[in-house]
Amino acid sequence: MTTHAKDAARAVIVLAAGEGKRMKSALPKVLHPLLGRTLLGHVLAAAEEAIGGEATVVIGHGADRVREHLTQIAPRATAALQAEQRGTGHAVRIALDAAPELSGTVVVLNGDIPLLRAHTLRALVHTHETTRAAATVLTAEVPDPTGLGRIVRSTGGEFEAIVEERDATAAQRGIREINSGAYAFEAATLREMLSKLSTDNDQGEEYLTDVIGLLVAAGLPVVAHRAPDATETLGCNDRAELAVLRGLLRDRVNDAWMRAGVSIIDPLTTWVDVTATLERDVVVEPNTHLRGATHVAEGAVVGPDSTLIDVVVGAGASVVRTHAVSSQIGPSASVGPFAYLRPGSQLARKAKVGTFVETKAASIGEGAKVPHLSYVGDATIGEGTNIGAATVFVNYDGVSKHRTVIGAHARTGADNMFVAPVEVGDGAYTAAGSVITMDVPPGALGVSRAQQRNIEGWVLRKRPGTAAADAARRAADSEEHHDGPPPVGGAMPAG
Ligand code: UD1
Ligand code: CA
Repeated sequence: MTTHAKDAARAVIVLAAGEGKRMKSALPKVLHPLLGRTLLGHVLAAAEEAIGGEATVVIGHGADRVREHLTQIAPRATAALQAEQRGTGHAVRIALDAAPELSGTVVVLNGDIPLLRAHTLRALVHTHETTRAAATVLTAEVPDPTGLGRIVRSTGGEFEAIVEERDATAAQRGIREINSGAYAFEAATLREMLSKLSTDNDQGEEYLTDVIGLLVAAGLPVVAHRAPDATETLGCNDRAELAVLRGLLRDRVNDAWMRAGVSIIDPLTTWVDVTATLERDVVVEPNTHLRGATHVAEGAVVGPDSTLIDVVVGAGASVVRTHAVSSQIGPSASVGPFAYLRPGSQLARKAKVGTFVETKAASIGEGAKVPHLSYVGDATIGEGTNIGAATVFVNYDGVSKHRTVIGAHARTGADNMFVAPVEVGDGAYTAAGSVITMDVPPGALGVSRAQQRNIEGWVLRKRPGTAAADAARRAADSEEHHDGPPPVGGAMPAG
């Protein structure tokens, strides 16, 4: 970009007051999510990257929710309220009234064109400033222009006007070059022409697009900048279009990661939010969703059938058929198949959370393992410890949650209950089937279960005639006819 362009004053106005009726939603259209950001969030991110500065966002429909969203994603943006949606021209006028000092280049963006790239926006501004145009319109040649404003050019190819479909003649409807809803204007002339807009059209609204016609009529230069990739200019009016945009963005994101050295086995079923990041030699197996601030480090394998939301996966880790939220998975750790990591799960290097295991606010030490069928809530497990199958960390007394701490290199038996708060020391063991309610000192064996007793002959007496009784009798008979000593390890028949 030239020095002239860099020094120029620039501002961004995003139009986001419309209801988006065809979304048929309680949520304002611009707040609908699309791979990690709202529609509005995508537009603001592109504007921030291309132009910087503080955007003015025109809000109206669902103003409270949109304003709340803005405080989260763009706290420096200014919200300008358009109480009644009287058209895109009216909306820009309200934004300019809120910023009377504004000069230089004003970029206006519809809030519902989320695929627009920063690079394209930069090119639009560059064209605008180098040609010293009064207005520059981002246009695109599309296969189906239905519903969009058409770019009308003179026989010599000069830009003449934007005509909305509902106001267009049959011949104009045949035009396939459309208005994307992204523009660069010179602030002073924009301000002047907005004051001259009429509502003399099919919708009785003030059209921003009519500013173009007024500028042309005044003999001022208007330029069309055609987007090289028409998909970037696609708007979103209903949920079917939203799904189309989602598919296009998925392809774009996947393509970029594959070119950066990530193996995506099935790009059609891999959904990576624009906010997620991956390192080289990561393998993403089919039907995997990487959402939010998820990061996957080098050589890790994620999927199939997994959803990771705000999860950090260490290098070389394996995460199979897993749902994980706000958790950290250490390098070379192993998770799943069929694991559920709830917020605050932290697996150190080489830790394992295996099959049908749920964890929450649990810190699992280096090389420690929870291999099978367990719930680990509010717990700390030391390095090298093994938790037996079907263990429950009983963290909830019905009123509050309590923690369990298990030391390093402990071996806890299968089917244990750790009734928190409780501690098991370093190197301690617990017996299978134990309900551990008292601390187990380091190196001790904690046993908490009834002593086993066998009632001899019970089945023959109490369940005569059953298959079990018959089997028991055959076993007793064969032992009676056995000549040699009892088999090694076998019990002597009871006297
Ligand atoms: C607009 C353009 C059309 C272009 C299309 C691209 C006009 C008159 N037409 O049409 O040429 O091809 O975008 O998608 O501008 N908005 C407000 N306040 C209002 C009205 C709209 O903030 O009073 C916002 C909406 O929230 C939306 C954007 O402006 O983000 C565009 O409005 P929309 O009604 O979708 O315009 P289109 O009819 O699609
Ligand atoms: Ca629209």
